[in-house]
Amino acid sequence: MCDDLAFRPATPDDLTALWSIRNRAARIQCAGHYPPDALDTWLAAAPSDGFRHLLRQGHAIVAERDRSIVGYAVVDVGERELEALFVAPDHFRRGHGSKLLARAEELARQEGIDILTLSAALNAIDFYLAHGYELLAIDDYAHRSGVRLKRGVMRKSLKLPR
Ligand SMILES: CC(C)(COP(=O)(O)OP(=O)(O)OC[C@H]1O[C@@H](n2cnc3c(N)ncnc32)[C@H](O)[C@@H]1OP(=O)(O)O)[C@@H](O)C(=O)NCCC(=O)NCCS
Repeated sequence: MCDDLAFRPATPDDLTALWSIRNRAARIQCAGHYPPDALDTWLAAAPSDGFRHLLRQGHAIVAERDRSIVGYAVVDVGERELEALFVAPDHFRRGHGSKLLARAEELARQEGIDILTLSAALNAIDFYLAHGYELLAIDDYAHRSGVRLKRGVMRKSLKLPR
């Protein structure tokens, strides 16, 4: 159960904690889906200026339990994209990712986004399919770290039924 989760906007002071969750979560869940070398290069990248900017804009949500961050989601409003969604490994499969995704979609709706897109790590495609996202394509893209990574290009209509 996760009824004791608290949500708040992320701040730039959260950067180190969020990046650590990203690296630990992806290290576990992406293993087996990507070559080890590619994973090492991807996860060694420092946070981008764009990511720091999104935190300053207040478009990131953190979930806390007992005042400790257990996951986060980031919406890039300009790109109409879910930029990130990560849950700390000790907290996988307790519904935290689903709750963070719902909050991120609500934030996107409030910002006037009708269709939210995302690039899913291969291991996360089934999670997003289970939450109403459509898989448009699987392609590979050049990450800024220099590595090419496969991803699922996905989208979901956020329009509420009348
Ligand atoms: C993907 C992720 C955000 C899901 O968060 P979570 O809190 O573990 O997921 P939830 O407990 O909310 O899952 C709800 C449902 O989604 C589906 N689901 C969740 N994780 C899944 C997975 N790895 N594979 C397939 N389905 C999954 C299941 O239907 C699950 O329900 P169930 O547990 O009753 O079977 C989290 O596991 C994570 O951070 N993974 C590593 C990083 C990552 O890949 N992030 C996405 C980058 S695009």
